[in-house]
Amino acid sequence: MRGSVRWLGTSFKMTKTIAESTAYAARLRDAVGAEPPSGVRLFVIPPATAIEPVARTLGTDSPVLVGAQNAHWADEGAWTGEISMPQAADAGARIVEIGHSERRAHFAETDATVRLKVAAALRHGLVPLVCVGEDAATFAAGRSADQVVAQATAALDGLAGTEAVLLAYEPVWAIGEHGRPAGPAEVAEPVAALRAAVGGRIGGVLYGGSVSPANAAGLLDVPGVDGLFVGRAAWRVAGFLALLELTATR
Ligand code: PGA
Repeated sequence: MRGSVRWLGTSFKMTKTIAESTAYAARLRDAVGAEPPSGVRLFVIPPATAIEPVARTLGTDSPVLVGAQNAHWADEGAWTGEISMPQAADAGARIVEIGHSERRAHFAETDATVRLKVAAALRHGLVPLVCVGEDAATFAAGRSADQVVAQATAALDGLAGTEAVLLAYEPVWAIGEHGRPAGPAEVAEPVAALRAAVGGRIGGVLYGGSVSPANAAGLLDVPGVDGLFVGRAAWRVAGFLALLELTATR
């Protein structure tokens, strides 16, 4: 069952300059004001270059949380090309995306590194947004629930204080321009399995993967879905606001 809190957020992935990101943030700030409709919790995850400018544009009291798309598990050190959780927090991030399938596929993220990053995020007061999702072959084999439960339990393994953790269920086959949007019936079983396995230890389950204003209502109505994590459909503020209206009224 969905709790009373609903979430709506977007990651820009590797799109947008600082100017484009801050223009987006300013438009969103002006549209949302101090209080989003029905208390929907909002977040925007720009590229690392724009975390600080977006946070500054939104303002410290903004109801829109700013996030990082990735951060390392170590607090500092010889990790060329990485940023740490404290650095992300210093830039204004309050939420950090961990284990997106693109990072698992292309940057060697594993369940073990995801868990290290969840621990580091919690240590530094950031909300971990842990992405889990099965690939097409696993989906075809009918083993989606098993795989996402394994990913989620590994991410939380041995960790205390995980109530802040958000999960995003994102079937790999549904993500991006080559993805096939998942239907509510396909989402229901993995989400129910996640709820049964770790629901008591986390702050919520979001759905992500080719979300659009056309399919958002059906996905929000899936029992156990607390909100939406959106890519392309929210990269323009008008798209984000259309999804916000749908989220607020479900
Ligand atoms: P998409 O991206 O909405 O563009 O499919 C979703 C995601 O990768 O989180």
